[in-house]
Order: sequence, then structure tokens, then C-alpha cells
Amino acid sequence: MGIRVLGTGSYTPAYQVTNDDMAKLVETNDEWIRTRTGIGTRHISDGEPTWYMGAEAAKKAIADAGIDPAEIGLVIDTTITPEYCTPSMSCIIQREVGAVDAACFDLNAACSGFVYAVDTAHRFLQTDSSMKYALIVANESLSKITNYSDRSSCILFGDGAAAVVIAYAEKALYSSYLGADGTGAKYLYAHSALPVSPFVKPERAARYDDHMGAGPKGWEHTMLQEGREVYKFATQAMPKAAAMAAQKIGMQLDEIDKFVPHQANMRIIETAMKHIKQPMEKVIVNIAYHGNTSSASIPIAFDEAVREGKIQRGEKVCLVGFGAGLTYAALIMEY
Ligand code: UT7
Repeated sequence: MGIRVLGTGSYTPAYQVTNDDMAKLVETNDEWIRTRTGIGTRHISDGEPTWYMGAEAAKKAIADAGIDPAEIGLVIDTTITPEYCTPSMSCIIQREVGAVDAACFDLNAACSGFVYAVDTAHRFLQTDSSMKYALIVANESLSKITNYSDRSSCILFGDGAAAVVIAYAEKALYSSYLGADGTGAKYLYAHSALPVSPFVKPERAARYDDHMGAGPKGWEHTMLQEGREVYKFATQAMPKAAAMAAQKIGMQLDEIDKFVPHQANMRIIETAMKHIKQPMEKVIVNIAYHGNTSSASIPIAFDEAVREGKIQRGEKVCLVGFGAGLTYAALIMEY
């Protein structure tokens, strides 16, 4: 009933933006950012598209798995920052990696997206034996939707991508728990296309965002966040998701060897781990060098941990995240 991770890969832009660089844009400083978030630098695209970063990460994961890309039956891409609303990022990545026979679609569950996508792929592989491998790619250019005049949010975000190749494994340990609370949608959002067709009545366009609460003018194309509300949600949702995933298979969280949480804020990670009484030694953290890369954050941390030997074959791993939506998700598997 589980999966085997055959290969992992990640790609982040070479260009890095330090906290001191951020202090040139907004009134902030290195000390505030480090103590309130744990972030030191973040990788930012200086022009590399989201799809390109995803394709580079995918190529590494396929090479790591040592498989023929033509045998990939499914590509799922997770992103909130695609270049196009159509075609999907996954179709472009399929083209780039040569996964010629794969079904392709994108999935948006914001920062929980990677966990949602692995779980979705697991269900496809379980019910369709003609699909040998699935490729899951998470790629984000949050810099495209970040408001660089808002000091409370712009210091958080970075860009990057990561991918995994998985196969179905009948006897492998596996559990997942996916959830959402749409009443919190207004706490973290960014627009896609605005209603600008010639048929839109001006009075209706003015009320377009009423259900989200009144956002300030001039923010139409960038992310809006109520940080404290998201913080509160995160510190409850991550423990809940991990506990529920464990409970589904009668497992204790003490049995988990490594946790790979969404890298949003060091204080959120520490508080969540305290709630589930797990020591920080078990937790993979790379936020200092990446910031928050939304759906790419968990798989980038996972790939780096595998490469650095912090996650070993046979270890029980819990991937756990939260994000806009508001969404939350956890997945337990053996690496
Ligand atoms: O993937 C999910 C994405 N989102 C998140 O995970 C966000 C979750 N929330 C957070 O991580 C935190 O709420 C933030 C990092 C966004 C903010 O930290 P905080 O400790 O909740 O700060 P705060 O919003 O309560 O603000 C405290 C003070 C305020 O000043 P006053 O009103 O006390 O004078 C802010 O204006 O800190 C100020 N502040 C800053 N000061 C220096 C806010 N941002 C900054 C900044 N530099 N960058």
C-alpha cells in the first residue's frame, strides 16, 4: 500500500539575496529576520522561469532513479507560480525530460502541494498497474508574486524546485492525511487573472474581492498575507496532520525517524514539534539558506537531507506542511 522513492533532485537559482540586501528594499535588518524567522538568505530567480527550474530538478531526480523517462506514466507538477494558466507546467516538463508516455496535470495546494501530489500519485499507481513510475515536480518562483514593499512578507520568500521519482510498493509503510480550511482563504492569497473582459460591469469588478476582505489598492498582482493568522493556523495544522497520518496506521509519532516540515518559519517548526513532543534532532531544517519556497520547500529539504546522509534508506520519514487555502498535509513513508 505504499511507495518507494527511487530518486530525488533539486534546483535552486544561483543568485542569492541576503537579509542585508532585503534591508536595502524595506525597513528591516538581519537580526530581526533571523530571530523572527530563521532565514539568512534566499535563492531568487534573476530570470529563470518556473518551468525551467522544475525541469532541471526533474532531470536530476530521473538520473538519480536511473530509469528511462519513457517509462514514467504520470507527471504531476505543483506550483502557485506557473508561467502559464495553460498549458500545464507538467506538460512542459514532460517535453523537457522526455516522459513521452506520461499523463500530465498540475496541482495547486499551495505549500502543501508536494505532499498532496505524492499522495495523489500514490493513488494512481495503486489503481493503475500500467503506470510504472510517477514523477512529482514542485517548482516555484515566489519572487514573481512577492510584494517587495511589504516588509512583513517579502523577507520570507525564495525560489526553487525539487522532484522525486516514485514507484508503487505493495508492502511499504505508508499513510497520509490531507486537509483544508477554506474559511482561512482570506489570510494568504494572490490573484490570477483579473476580470478585465469587455463584458465586466465596473460595479461588479469593484466587488470582485469582497469575499476576501478589503485588500489595499495596488496589490492586485502580489501576495497578501496576515502573518499572525497564518502562524496560528500553522502551529495547529502541522501537528494535527502528522498525528492523524500516524493514527491511521496505528503508529506513534515517536517511531518516526525524521520529520521534513514546510520551511516557512523556524519558530513555527519548533512550536509544531513541541506540540507533538518530538526533538529538533529529528527535524530537517534548511530555512536559513532557502526561506519559504512554497510547495518546493519540503522536497528541496528532503533532497538535500538525502544527499547529506541525514535521511538514510530504511528510515521512517514524515513530510508535513501547511499553506494557503488554508491547506495542510502529512505523509508517512519509509525512505
Ligand atoms: O507558507 C506559508 C507562508 N506564511 C507563513 O508561514 C507566515 C507565518 N507568519 C509568520 O511567519 C510571522 O507572523 C511573520 C514572520 C510574518 C511576522 O512575525 P511576527 O513575529 O508575527 O511579527 P508581527 O507581525 O507580530 O510584527 C511584530 C513587529 C511589528 O511592529 P510593531 O507593530 O510591533 O511596531 C511589525 O511591523 O515587527 C514588525 N515587522 C518587522 N520589523 C522589521 C514586521 N516585519 C518586519 C521586518 N523587519 N521584516
